[in-house]
Amino acid sequence: MPPAIRFDVVTVFPEIFGPVFAAGVVGRAMARGLVQLEAHDLRRYAHDRHRQVDDVPYGGGPGMVLKPEPLFEAIEEIKAHNSGPVILLEPWGERFDQGLARELAGEPGLVLVCGRYEGIDDRVRQAQADREVSIGDYVLSGGELAAMVIIDAVSRLVPGVLGDEESLAGDSFAGDELGHPQYTRPAEYRGLRVPEVLLSGNHKEIEAWRRAQARRRTLARAGAPRPER
Ligand code: ADE
Repeated sequence: MPPAIRFDVVTVFPEIFGPVFAAGVVGRAMARGLVQLEAHDLRRYAHDRHRQVDDVPYGGGPGMVLKPEPLFEAIEEIKAHNSGPVILLEPWGERFDQGLARELAGEPGLVLVCGRYEGIDDRVRQAQADREVSIGDYVLSGGELAAMVIIDAVSRLVPGVLGDEESLAGDSFAGDELGHPQYTRPAEYRGLRVPEVLLSGNHKEIEAWRRAQARRRTLARAGAPRPER
């Protein structure tokens, strides 16, 4: 059976993806063949003996720019077996949120292109990218962490990835509300008690308490813009 979704990442640091996804929900989904992740070393597509993938910017200025040829060739090769959108990770891209995660989880795959240095040659964006995505209003030193965030958030929405006990229904953001606080044993720890209602065994009251708590969190966060799709 083919994987439900495949992620192809183009990066100068392919080795950092394996360890991050070796454990946990995504690691298990990969072991079960539901999710496939390939990190492609951009340097493999370099043309010269030094495997150089960057060069000085036209017009001058500090830093280096990722050259177009290796990126074009890597993306084109990947497109032959991944029909999903090509996404550039860039701080000015559209904001990644749960709505976008849901949308992307419906794709057969994603091609995630990680920028580095001062940026990537703009012709890659013009000719190869379907969209540009940012994980937040801050500048990372490269797109790799952003790609990992997207892989994690999208994978767990793929049907079958989460087990029953981790079901999506109670997720923060699953509906339009944030999750409620959770507690486990012991009932008292360092003088901090679990709310009495949770020990009551009264499921109706517990449900009402949880809804009210979720509502409170949601309202407390209402100042922060969270566009819903
Ligand atoms: N690359 C650098 N900063 C980024 C951000 N905030 N989101 C996505 N990619 C980035």
